[in-house]
Amino acid sequence: MSAACIFLRVVIVAVFACSLKDVAALTKPSSVQLKDNGYSGVVVAIHPDVEENGTVIEIIKNMFTEASSVLFNATRSRSYFKNVTILVPDTWADNDTYDSPKNASFEGADVIIATRNPRFAPDPYQQAAPYTKHYEGCGRQAAHIHFTPEFLLDPEPTYGSLGRLLVHEWGHYRWGLFDEYPDVIGDPDFYQEYYFDPETNLFEATR
Ligand SMILES: *[C@@H]1O[C@H](CO)[C@@H](O)[C@H](O)[C@H]1NC(C)=O
Ligand SMILES: *[C@@H]1O[C@H](CO)[C@@H](O)[C@H](O)[C@H]1NC(C)=O
Ligand SMILES: *[C@@H]1O[C@H](CO)[C@@H](O)[C@H](O)[C@H]1NC(C)=O
Ligand SMILES: *[C@@H]1O[C@H](CO)[C@@H](O)[C@H](O)[C@H]1NC(C)=O
Ligand SMILES: *[C@@H]1O[C@H](CO)[C@@H](O)[C@H](O)[C@H]1NC(C)=O
Repeated sequence: MSAACIFLRVVIVAVFACSLKDVAALTKPSSVQLKDNGYSGVVVAIHPDVEENGTVIEIIKNMFTEASSVLFNATRSRSYFKNVTILVPDTWADNDTYDSPKNASFEGADVIIATRNPRFAPDPYQQAAPYTKHYEGCGRQAAHIHFTPEFLLDPEPTYGSLGRLLVHEWGHYRWGLFDEYPDVIGDPDFYQEYYFDPETNLFEATR
């Protein structure tokens, strides 16, 4: 497949009757599929408490478009994002360009845009960093990726390119990868500053 095959279709849908149940179900259905190298059925849902701002939608589109190219390069042409559905809450104005949500829901979303979660962003004076809620560890899909709207709207993103950042989070989400650095906030019980290699008896970087 050549890079010219990378095509990302973004469909924006709106929820009319929004039922918000507990998002943190342990095993969660997801419609993501990998077929012919393309990830399809990815759902990004905006929480009803997020203030209406069309720029958020534009940024999500651009982030996935860039991430598709980053993923394609990083996996040596093995995968890219084929289509993404953005679920707009019923607290936002309706728009003729929006489709019906079919069975997409906030609870089932792969990526959520919502206000800060104090569990992962305890300091209210610091910008909430994106995170991926893990449950089952390596090789298993996580619950969801969380971005705050403030993080997405920041004109100078803290961690640089949003597309690269999304691919990093996608590694946690889809493949259950762990961070290659110690995460004091997300993993307070098990984080390690260094890795002690019992064979060489040397401390090395966390991996
Ligand atoms: C939504 O419906 C499609 C087609 O019926 C199905 O393949 C998919 O798994 C469903 N998604 C969820 C999150 O239930
Ligand atoms: C995404 O692509 C899959 C696989 O080609 C297709 O079944 C699905 O209908 C597409 N979804 C949207 C929202 O375009
Ligand atoms: C959307 O967010 C941007 C960046 O924070 C801001 O400049 C703009 O005024 C907001 N637009 C609306 C309609 O609130
Ligand atoms: C992916 O690789 C192509 C070809 O080398 C390059 O043009 C493109 O900028 C790369 N994309 C990213 C996001 O790095
Ligand atoms: C509907 O959405 C489009 C594309 O995001 C935007 O350009 C347009 O201003 C929106 N229309 C209304 C009435 O909000």
